[in-house]
Order: sequence, then C-alpha cells, then structure tokens
Amino acid sequence: MKFLKFRLFLFIAFYSFSTLLSAANVMFSNDSIVAADTAKFIPPYAEDNERCFKCHGQSKYEYTNESLGRQVKAMMFSERILKRDEFYKSNHKNFSCTDCHSAEYVNFPHVGTLRMEPKLNCIDCHGGDENFAQYHFEEIEEDYKQSIHFKLEEEGFSCWKCHDPHSYKISVRNMTNTKETVAYDNAICLNCHSDFSRFQLLTEKAELNILEKHEWLPNQKSHFASVRCIECHTKINNNIPVAHQIRTKEEAVKRCNECHSQNSILMASLYKFSAREERRDGFVNGIILNESYVIGANRNKYLNIFSLIIFAGVVAGVGVHVFFRLKK
Ligand code: HEC
Ligand code: HEC
Ligand code: HEC
Ligand code: HEC
Ligand code: HEC
Ligand code: HEC
Ligand code: HEC
Repeated sequence: MKFLKFRLFLFIAFYSFSTLLSAANVMFSNDSIVAADTAKFIPPYAEDNERCFKCHGQSKYEYTNESLGRQVKAMMFSERILKRDEFYKSNHKNFSCTDCHSAEYVNFPHVGTLRMEPKLNCIDCHGGDENFAQYHFEEIEEDYKQSIHFKLEEEGFSCWKCHDPHSYKISVRNMTNTKETVAYDNAICLNCHSDFSRFQLLTEKAELNILEKHEWLPNQKSHFASVRCIECHTKINNNIPVAHQIRTKEEAVKRCNECHSQNSILMASLYKFSAREERRDGFVNGIILNESYVIGANRNKYLNIFSLIIFAGVVAGVGVHVFFRLKK
C-alpha cells in the first residue's frame, strides 16, 4: 500500500512539474516583455499634439468664433477623429503631427489651400535609409507598383490606404499571437473590402460580398481567423519580408494543399518570422509549434520522436508493474 502511495506521489510530482514547465514557457514568452515596453512609453511630443487632439481626439470640439465673439461647439466628422492611444502605439508615435502636416494647421479654421498640399510618401523618408534596410522599402515599392491596386493611384490610392498614418504598427514581424496578427492584417483589407463607401471612392465597380466570394472555402470563419488575405492574394517574394504584389482574383491561391502540405506556402509568408526567430534561439519547442500550426503537415520529426519516447515510457511502466505484481 505504501509503495502504491509512493508511486502515486511520483506520478503527481512528475505531472505537476511538467505543468509548471509549460506555464513557465508561457509566462516567459515575449508577450509579457512587450506589454512592459509599451507601458513605459512617454511620447516626446505629447504636449504639442494636444493642440490637435483637443479637436481631433473626440467627437466634439470647441473654438472661438471671431465674428460671434464667443465659444462655439461643433461635431467632428468621424473620419477626422484620431485615437490617441492608437497613435502612441504606432510606428510613428515619436512624431509631432506637424512633422507630416503643415504647421499652419495650428490655426483654425484651417486655411483651405492646405488641402491641396502634396503628402509625403513612405519612400520619401524611408528610401535609401540604412536604418530601415531590413524592411526593404524600395523592393516593397516595386512589388506594390505591380499590384492590382496601383492603377487606382489616380483615384487616391497610396501606401497610406493600407498603412493608416495614425495607427499603423508592424505586427507580423513581432508576432506573438498568430490570431491577433491575422485579425490586424485582415482588418486592413476589410477596411475597404467590407465597407462599400470607401471602396466606391476608388472604383466604379459594384459592391461585392467578400463572404459570398469565398464560399468555396470550407470553415470560412476559421480560415479567416487563421490566415491572412495576403496569403492567397499576393505573389510570394522571397526578397522582402511581406509580399506586396496583390494579384488578380484569377491568380489567387485556391488549392488546399498549397497550405495543407509539408512545404506549405505559409512557411514563406505568415510563419516566416516566427520560424526564423525561433530557430535562431534554438527552441526546438518553437519549431514543433510552428510546423504543427499547419494541420495536415504533421509528419513532424520531433513530434514523432517525442511520441516514440512516450510510448517507450508507457511500455517500461507497464513492464515494471507486471514485474512487481509477479514478484509478490
Ligand atoms: C479648433 C479645432 C481644431 C484644431 C485645434 C485642429 N483642427 Fe484640424 N480640423 C478641424 C476640423 C473641424 C476639420 C474639418 C474641416 C476642415 O477641413 O477645415 C479639420 C481638418 C483637418 C485636416 C484635414 C484637411 C483635409 O484635407 O480635409 C487635417 C490634416 C487637420 N485638420 C490637421 C490638424 C492638425 C495637424 C492640427 C494640430 C496642429 C489640427 N488639425 C488642429 C478642427 C481642428
Ligand atoms: C507619419 C506622418 C503623419 C503623422 C505623424 C500624422 N499624420 Fe495626419 N495624415 C498623414 C497623411 C499621409 C494623411 C492622409 C492620409 C490619406 O491620404 O489616406 C493624414 C491625414 C490626416 C487627417 C485627415 C483625416 C484622415 O485620417 O485622412 C487628419 C485630421 C490628420 N491627419 C491629423 C493628424 C493629427 C492630429 C496628427 C497628430 C496626432 C497627425 N495627423 C499625425 C500623415 C501623418
Ligand atoms: C516624414 C517621414 C516619414 C514618413 C512619410 C514615413 N515614415 Fe516611417 N518612420 C520615420 C521615422 C523617422 C521612423 C523612426 C521613428 C522612431 O525611431 O521613433 C519611422 C519608423 C517606421 C517604422 C518602424 C521602424 C522600426 O524599426 O521601429 C515602420 C515600419 C515605418 N516607419 C513604416 C512606414 C510606412 C509603411 C510609411 C508609409 C505608409 C512610412 N513609414 C512613412 C519616418 C517616416
Ligand atoms: C493593399 C494593402 C497594402 C498596401 C497598398 C501597402 N501595404 Fe505595406 N503592408 C501591408 C500589410 C497587410 C502588411 C503586414 C503588416 C504586419 O503584419 O506587420 C504590410 C507591411 C509593410 C511593412 C512592414 C514589413 C516588415 O518587414 O515588417 C512595410 C515596411 C510596408 N508594408 C511598406 C509599404 C509601402 C512602402 C507601401 C507602398 C509602396 C505599402 N506598404 C503598401 C499592406 C499593404
Ligand atoms: C484561402 C485563400 C484565400 C483567402 C484567405 C482569401 N481569399 Fe480572396 N479570393 C481567393 C480566391 C481563390 C478568389 C477567386 C474566387 C473566384 O474567382 O471564384 C478570391 C477572390 C477575392 C476577391 C475578388 C472578388 C470578385 O469576384 O471580384 C476579393 C476582392 C478578395 N478575394 C478579397 C479577399 C480579402 C479581403 C480577404 C481577407 C479577408 C481574402 N480575399 C481572403 C482566395 C482567398
Ligand atoms: C483603400 C481601399 C482598399 C484597400 C485597403 C484594399 N483594397 Fe483591394 N481593392 C480596392 C478596390 C477599389 C478594388 C477594385 C479595383 C478595380 O476597380 O478593379 C480592389 C480590388 C481587389 C481585388 C480584386 C482583383 C480582381 O481581380 O478583381 C483583390 C483580390 C483585392 N483588392 C485584395 C485586397 C487585399 C488582399 C487587401 C489587403 C492587403 C486589399 N485589397 C486592400 C480597394 C482596396
Ligand atoms: C492559405 C492557406 C490555406 C488554404 C489555401 C487552405 N487552408 Fe485550410 N487551414 C489553413 C490554416 C492555417 C488552418 C488552421 C489550422 C489550425 O488552426 O490549426 C486551416 C484549417 C482547416 C480546417 C480545419 C478547420 C477548423 O475549424 O479547425 C479544414 C477542414 C481545412 N482547413 C480545409 C481546407 C480545404 C478543404 C481547403 C481547400 C478548399 C483549405 N483548407 C485551404 C490554411 C489554409
């Protein structure tokens, strides 16, 4: 009886130890580090920017009407409202509004001709800059120029239409949670592709229902939560971290085994960063997780070895039991 209790104890001890291990694995993953980083951030131009946020930060604003000689309250159009917290989490959080916009915007009413001012493009600041070489801005630009959206430039399309100047932040490069990155990136496309009025600012095409157009895809909801639009709609380009050449609908990925196979295209797109980073850190665990994300691709070497070890353990355990039973 005592012996049995001891074995039970050993089993529980082993089980708790492994649970603790996996909990520690989660706790020490990048998530908590990233959270700590953003909490500390103090924007250098917070005060300057309040000159703009006092009107552009919420749905109501106030100004002194010179001809009436008193304060007037009015509504701000929703399209002109920016979210402070999103701005201060974005890539350009260290900017003053007037780094990109004319300093004349401090005055209200804004001078009409300001509207006509040309806007800076990504490449104007990032082009040929060593500090940003890892992003390959020039090659992204080339890819974009061959994408189906480029012809809409005359109607006002630009990099800014997908990279909101006041909220865009890199995601997949620092991916800690696949679903969050997928949701973030897909929202970029759905901003137009599920919002008819934005879509029609740029084209004469009739409204199209994205869900209907993808009815051929089983478990659509689950797929849209696990893969990004760009996985199927861009041409893979190994020279740049995120492919930017969006192709016509005829050229989109439709075959299941482009993803559901061992050499899944996802390894060169969605999992590109995680796969590389984690291999570099030498976490075998990371590799197992990465490759097993893609269901159907699971002839995973490490998993196979692991299950063999478990199997051997079970056989040995049974053997020991039988041995002691017989001995008694
Ligand atoms: C007193 C309120 C108020 C303040 C302060 C204010 N704005 Fe505005 N802004 C508005 C309103 C209202 C509009 C929309 C009407 C218009 O275009 O004049 C607007 C429009 C804009 C536009 C869009 C113009 C376009 O092309 O349609 C930009 C850009 C802008 N503001 C930038 C700024 C910046 C940058 C600051 C701070 C330096 C700022 N604003 C301060 C009220 C304000
Ligand atoms: C990195 C450059 C950059 C910074 C920093 C920036 N803006 Fe903008 N902003 C732009 C661009 C580019 C556009 C035009 C976007 C487009 O064409 O889609 C724009 C558009 C706007 C508009 C028009 C509405 C819209 O969203 O299209 C307003 C209002 C505005 N900015 C206010 C601000 C305020 C207030 C700040 C500071 C908190 C700020 N901007 C900081 C680049 C910037
Ligand atoms: C007015 C110049 C300017 C424009 C226009 C501009 N950027 Fe930037 N961007 C910068 C600077 C400067 C930084 C570095 C900011 C910092 O270190 O705080 C930066 C940072 C970034 C980063 C983060 C880099 C990092 O390593 O943290 C990304 C990504 C980025 N920009 C993308 C874009 C994209 C995409 C566009 C166009 C849609 C764009 N930028 C337009 C000047 C600009
Ligand atoms: C049709 C939408 C779309 C357009 C247009 C677009 N991008 Fe992107 N871009 C994306 C998406 C989606 C991502 C992935 C964002 C993420 O998860 O970090 C991205 C990522 C990026 C990144 C970060 C890549 C990395 O290595 O982390 C840069 C830099 C960038 N784009 C630059 C540009 C430039 C420059 C242009 C214009 C020449 C442009 N983009 C036009 C959708 C677009
Ligand atoms: C699994 C691959 C896959 C994913 C993920 C995917 N698409 Fe598609 N998409 C396709 C294919 C294939 C077609 C062509 C369908 C056809 O012609 O029957 C298509 C068609 C389209 C069309 C053209 C519709 C038309 O008939 O004009 C648009 C726009 C589109 N997709 C946008 C998106 C957006 C936005 C997302 C992300 C929310 C997305 N797609 C996600 C594969 C995909
Ligand atoms: C600013 C709005 C906007 C954004 C953001 C946007 N699109 Fe589009 N897209 C359009 C418009 C408008 C068209 C129709 C072009 C035309 O007139 O042929 C289009 C067309 C398409 C088509 C259909 C091509 C065909 O063969 O008919 C696909 C696929 C597509 N977009 C995918 C995407 C993906 C993927 C993203 C995100 C990475 C995205 N779009 C982001 C506006 C947008
Ligand atoms: C762009 C890549 C891609 C394409 C193309 C693709 N899938 Fe998937 N599929 C995935 C990913 C990623 C998952 C989610 C795996 C996970 O969460 O473990 C998934 C999940 C599934 C699931 C499980 C759904 C669930 O609810 O868990 C089924 C079934 C499936 N796919 C079937 C298909 C079929 C059939 C096709 C072809 C018509 C297809 N897939 C095309 C990437 C893709």
